[in-house]
Amino acid sequence: MVTTGKTTSSNPSAWLCDMQIRWMIRRDMPEVLEIEKKSFEYSWSEEDFLNCLRQRNCIGMVAEHHEQIVGYMVYELLKDQLHILNFAVAPGHRRQGVGTRLMDKLVGKLAMQRRQEITFEVRETNLAAQLFFKSRGCQAVDVLRGHYVDTDEDAYQMAYSPFGSDVLRMDREKKNRLADWDDDRAAA
Ligand SMILES: CC(C)(COP(=O)(O)OP(=O)(O)OC[C@H]1O[C@@H](n2cnc3c(N)ncnc32)[C@H](O)[C@@H]1OP(=O)(O)O)[C@@H](O)C(=O)NCCC(=O)NCCS
Repeated sequence: MVTTGKTTSSNPSAWLCDMQIRWMIRRDMPEVLEIEKKSFEYSWSEEDFLNCLRQRNCIGMVAEHHEQIVGYMVYELLKDQLHILNFAVAPGHRRQGVGTRLMDKLVGKLAMQRRQEITFEVRETNLAAQLFFKSRGCQAVDVLRGHYVDTDEDAYQMAYSPFGSDVLRMDREKKNRLADWDDDRAAA
């Protein structure tokens, strides 16, 4: 069951201690879809999830608290990076560290010898996600014009590596707009 109200826990760190992260399974799909619909205007369908997770290199994980799914992440294993395809936390459980725990889990899967960076795209209008990723040390490395077919919206391509920004495969001269991005968001 997905709750929409804010958790009543008065001790967020104790609440997080009771949360576990595990592989996504078929049975999780109704709860995952409920969070998905509440999180995105253009949400994935069940078929989108299943088609994706049928790929050998695609992996889903869920954050579960007392048998309730409170967040999930779907990512793909590429040759030299992990690429996030979908990621959301139930609205009533945001700002409690669930997203951070899911990101930390993914970061733990990077290895110096092989996959050294995490990459993903964020909608230009998704300020909350941009602030979240910025708080996790992610960098905007490119602007993908008209990336989303539904709205023709631009995306910020973002990357993270615990091994330092010099290993970011996509690290390149920041475009003017991206340099502004940092300043604008810092001022927000
Ligand atoms: C982005 C998202 C996954 C973050 O999950 P979360 O569990 O709320 O994140 P956390 O609680 O770990 O947040 C860590 C930090 O990120 C920053 N942050 C997160 N959400 C923020 C917001 N709405 N506004 C400002 N800063 C925010 C804060 O610095 C926060 O620390 P604080 O709460 O101590 O201030 C969640 O907002 C979400 O599901 N959004 C809708 C779906 C989405 O946009 N997914 C990403 C697609 S690319």
